[in-house]
Amino acid sequence: TKTKQPDNHPYLFKKIAHRGAAGYCPENTFAAFDQAIAMGADYLELDIQLTKDKQMVVIHDPTIDRTTNGKGRVKDYTFAELQKFDAGSWFSQEFKNERVPLFKDVLARYLHRVGLLIEFKKPSSNEGIEKKLAEELIKLPLDQFDLQHIIVQSFDLESLMRMHAHLPQIPIGLLINYPLHKQEIIRFSNQVQYLNPKWSMVTPKLLKAIHDEGMHSFIWTVNTPREFNKVKGYPIDGIVTNDLDLFQQEKG
Ligand code: G3P
Ligand code: CA
Repeated sequence: TKTKQPDNHPYLFKKIAHRGAAGYCPENTFAAFDQAIAMGADYLELDIQLTKDKQMVVIHDPTIDRTTNGKGRVKDYTFAELQKFDAGSWFSQEFKNERVPLFKDVLARYLHRVGLLIEFKKPSSNEGIEKKLAEELIKLPLDQFDLQHIIVQSFDLESLMRMHAHLPQIPIGLLINYPLHKQEIIRFSNQVQYLNPKWSMVTPKLLKAIHDEGMHSFIWTVNTPREFNKVKGYPIDGIVTNDLDLFQQEKG
């Protein structure tokens, strides 16, 4: 997939579909991922957690209450049990056949086609997920595209360090939602390849400091034209958004 690069934009400016095309389809489902690709996504952002039988599934919340017609914690259901729930009707009836996807099926469907920005969601309550992900990835025929376009991110640096220890060739990114000082940026640059701050705290100065230390930066989650217009001229490597159509307005 080609990124539509604004004129003279100095950085990568990748289009990253938050939980798939979450503005158009139920988040973290095949419908949302297919739609994101149809809308020109460079990366699918998705969240992974473990079921009771230690399968990696793609879901954001620790419970299934908001995004399925069931109730309870993800980790209290086996994958087979989870499949009984409808993960689409909460968004719109037309998606009633969507289910919580198995991460391995997402990989099989999208690998080599689009980048994957995989987030460990609450790694402290998904013990062992780093090893699981590494084991899943290592058995695949990862080509050069994949190795640059599979990125693992988390708010939890220790979890990322564990991932790195298992599979150092996969880039890792730290999600940040608090003000950063130069010293921290320098320290993180020894540990991660991406520093991914919340969009509202991003300034050109912060981005320069991140780039000066040799890291990239994806910012999240930019969902309105006003937000997009504020950051579009900044030296960013990618924007995570529910609405990939924001990039279409990028005409000068
Ligand atoms: O890509 C960053 C973003 O997904 C982090 O927030 O809550 O949507 O997972 P959240
Ligand atoms: Ca996420």
